Amino acid sequence: MSVSRRQALQIGGVGVIGAFGLAVPLSSVDAKSASQLSSRNMPKLYQRTLPIPPVLAPKSTTVGADGKKVHLYQIEQTAGMASIVPGLSTPILGYNGSFPGPTIKVNQGERITLEMDNLLPLFHPQWGYRLDTSTHLHGSASLPQYDGYANDVTGRGLCKDYQYPNFQPARTLWYHDHAVHNTAQSVYSGLAGQYHLHDETERNLLPQGKFDVPLTISDAMFASNGALGYNDNTHSGLYGDIILVNGAPWPVMKVQRRIYRFRVLNASISRSYNFRLSTGDPVTMVATDGGLMPAAKQVTSWRQAGAERYEILIDFSKYPVGKRVELRNLSNKNNIDYDYTGRVMAFDVTGETVDTSGPAAKVMPTLLAGSAVMNLAPSQSVKTRRMRVKRDGDIWTIGDMTWDEVMKSGYKKVVADPDLNDIEIWEIENSSGGWFHPVHIHLVDFKILSRNGRPPFPYELGPKDVVYVGEGETVRLLMQFGPHRGRYMIHCHNLPHEDHDMMAQFSVGYNPNDPDPNDPIEAVKPHPIGEVVPVPGEVAADASDATASTETAQATATAQPTQPGGSSAGGTSTATETAAPVTTQPAAQKDVITIITARHRLNKDITFAGTSVYSGALSAASVVLYDVTPGRTATKLGMASINSLGNWTWTTKPGPSRQVTMVRADSSRGGTATASVRAD
Ligand code: C2O
Ligand code: CU
Repeated sequence: MSVSRRQALQIGGVGVIGAFGLAVPLSSVDAKSASQLSSRNMPKLYQRTLPIPPVLAPKSTTVGADGKKVHLYQIEQTAGMASIVPGLSTPILGYNGSFPGPTIKVNQGERITLEMDNLLPLFHPQWGYRLDTSTHLHGSASLPQYDGYANDVTGRGLCKDYQYPNFQPARTLWYHDHAVHNTAQSVYSGLAGQYHLHDETERNLLPQGKFDVPLTISDAMFASNGALGYNDNTHSGLYGDIILVNGAPWPVMKVQRRIYRFRVLNASISRSYNFRLSTGDPVTMVATDGGLMPAAKQVTSWRQAGAERYEILIDFSKYPVGKRVELRNLSNKNNIDYDYTGRVMAFDVTGETVDTSGPAAKVMPTLLAGSAVMNLAPSQSVKTRRMRVKRDGDIWTIGDMTWDEVMKSGYKKVVADPDLNDIEIWEIENSSGGWFHPVHIHLVDFKILSRNGRPPFPYELGPKDVVYVGEGETVRLLMQFGPHRGRYMIHCHNLPHEDHDMMAQFSVGYNPNDPDPNDPIEAVKPHPIGEVVPVPGEVAADASDATASTETAQATATAQPTQPGGSSAGGTSTATETAAPVTTQPAAQKDVITIITARHRLNKDITFAGTSVYSGALSAASVVLYDVTPGRTATKLGMASINSLGNWTWTTKPGPSRQVTMVRADSSRGGTATASVRAD
């Protein structure tokens, strides 16, 4: 067992003895298996039925002032026992004690408060580190204080109320632990679960219910007593010899002769897969990390690293009853493979009566749905940033930064500082041949423009939030930063890399020296379990907008719950000089329009930009802009459409010949705002 000095110190520091008792020796790397199980306890292929994690029921559901449901969920993080290998029990950490955690399902526009209780032991029973947790909902544009920031930890006996806005298009998300320096071991121990955001488009296009199947894939190694082993080869990566799907080794699923939808999540902490069907037939790829692709793609094999999600459709109607179709793994460079890591699971085609209800039971959809990010064009980018992912001595770095440096700077240091709603290109380079890095950018969905100057793989032609940056690869990504202001992490999703110390942060719409009402650590604190706290989220949940929490943070939240943005002037004016005074209109309106940029340079150009926070069902909406300069009759200037992130921009050259000093924006959803206009 090799232990870095950092680990030794860390464990020494908490005084745990025998913390390495269950580690698996390094020598096992060249062996046929990494596990030390006796053959009696060694799982065999295709013996277990695929378990489907239970769907979590909300503790309560109320109807918000906007007529939309608001759900309260509660999860207890506890230590538990799981039956993973035959004849033995495995100690795990689990959301509600299960591995993987329960699935949360929610409809677009319905808000969630997730009360996350930490009832774990104070120290990890095997690896000795302190079990503080931070929960990240991966794929959600949550406010920074609900985003699972690594140092926003909740200790034992405490609970944090996370607010999830669910305003984004349908997608497969997952929630997992993100605690600083121990994410790898905590996720590996079981702290991971799927979260499905549904919307009407997706419900009308893709299989639902029992034909919509979560596949959370991970790998593990076991000690002879059934406990999980841990060896990350000096933080290069952990590669287990046993492949688990939804917590069961190499399971089998019985299927009807129809089309199924699988939400494939790679929850391995390091391993990447190259999936294909044993028949050689293609699958139909329909969704990527951020939801539906514009068009379905036929794909015979695909590369998938940690945290990437792909939704695939498989048509079993073309196979005879009794046929077994396997999902296999051809592997990629720089994984460590064992005898059976090439197998994942199997589908057994049955003669069961075929249920053809619901969409896409028999016919594959081809055209799916566009999205704001897939509609972005590189020409809209205002800045290109370049970052390298590499190993520097003992430590992994991203953008020449480590999380340690971020911590030492008092969380001020950032690798990038885009303005709210800016569109940028980020170029990420991995010049090494020795390892691959799945890079995850929080908050945004991005569009992969190219890899080494060539188009991305066909299956990557959808909204993404993790990109596989393979050996010797440079990827170009296009994204828009919003709708929240604040600091968010960017890191490698090979979790031992992330923990040591390949993580940095960027800030959106703030100068790092300005006060941050969405401070990821300070804005919303954990509280003792059972203590009822007035939910600050009454504001944040409504808003899914940074400006809303300004109200919370300043405790001036007299704003009615129906009017999430309240007066947004505080949030914007402290943030940038370009912020214009903003007034919003009556509380009864369904959306809140904010004008962030209002500028008219006479005979040069005129630009207005802002946001619309709307919790109703999303449909096409636009903003009409009026010149309301005092002493003039209001005249229409133009119209801007609101994108699915809730952003709008209107600009024209040279603009009106008379100076506009006041502007009004009226949304087609009813909201309105007025702002004064800068002349310089
Ligand atoms: Cu899935 Cu920052 O993580
Ligand atoms: Cu990495």
